[in-house]
Amino acid sequence: MIGPTAPPVTVRAAAKINLHLGVGALREDGYHPLTTVYQAVGLCDDLTAHLADDLSLELSATDWVSAEAVPLDDDNLILRAAARLGALHGRELTGRLVVEKAIPVAGGLAGGSADGAAALVALDRLHDLGTSDHDLLLLAAGLGSDVPFSLVGGTALGTGRGELVDPVADVGTWWWVVVPSRVGLSTPEVYRHFDRLRPDAAPVPPDAEALLGALRTGQPVSLARTLHNDLQEPAIDLRPELGALIERGEAEGALRGLVSGSGPTVVFLCESADHARDLAGALIRGGHDVVLVANGAVAGAHVVPSHV
Ligand code: C5P
Repeated sequence: MIGPTAPPVTVRAAAKINLHLGVGALREDGYHPLTTVYQAVGLCDDLTAHLADDLSLELSATDWVSAEAVPLDDDNLILRAAARLGALHGRELTGRLVVEKAIPVAGGLAGGSADGAAALVALDRLHDLGTSDHDLLLLAAGLGSDVPFSLVGGTALGTGRGELVDPVADVGTWWWVVVPSRVGLSTPEVYRHFDRLRPDAAPVPPDAEALLGALRTGQPVSLARTLHNDLQEPAIDLRPELGALIERGEAEGALRGLVSGSGPTVVFLCESADHARDLAGALIRGGHDVVLVANGAVAGAHVVPSHV
């Protein structure tokens, strides 16, 4: 039983990047079949759930995140997570949910999915619901294609529409420079542009074997050669400046630059933490005001000591 003084629960959930994003031809259900390799990186949102008589949501954001771009209506994955978890347990869930966002919104980093996953875990703990991992993963898949991975974290193969997630061997510590854009890109729009540019896409997406092999070497140079994103071409076609940014980062010494997921965030793989800091410094001097350094792989949505 939960007493009236049950302590708040804080859950931390990480951004993801897609090391491999193979996209197949549009399915009849409106989704694309994917073979993807996700990696959770150390750029995180924290969600704290306090006991309360009703359900409410408060957002605060670091200066590179536009909190006003987060939908607060029924599209919000936190509120949808609360509704679905409540429905599973036959009750309406309440709580004062406070989110501190550091993951850019609509950035191709699954920030909304991270928040949805965090809400599932935080409300499950706050109300002591004991939801099984199996049920949490099913609820997550119903919320969005990337939400199961946000629960699992680490490095994982995603299939289906991305919602079927299997951890993979990853012996490396990988250092990334992350460059968000001021204005987000709509994921459905990027997929629609993929359909326009690739009317010949095969039903089965390109496999990730080369990338999975590189992960097992732990060598950044090997990983750099095998990074792959089928949404990069449509994202750059919609935002040509992303192509220029990738060229710039590679000219400054990145092993490889890549659009993250559907963009517009661009990530650069580096040799080491020092290399990542040097590259970040060079990009800042070149005029990019927000340049972050993150390493992977990190954990999926998990409870941390409360600080709100
Ligand atoms: O699953 P999620 O709600 O995050 O997907 C958002 C949109 O992205 C979908 O409505 C669809 O337009 C597109 N999408 C897709 N194929 C996928 C995942 C997402 O076409 N595998």
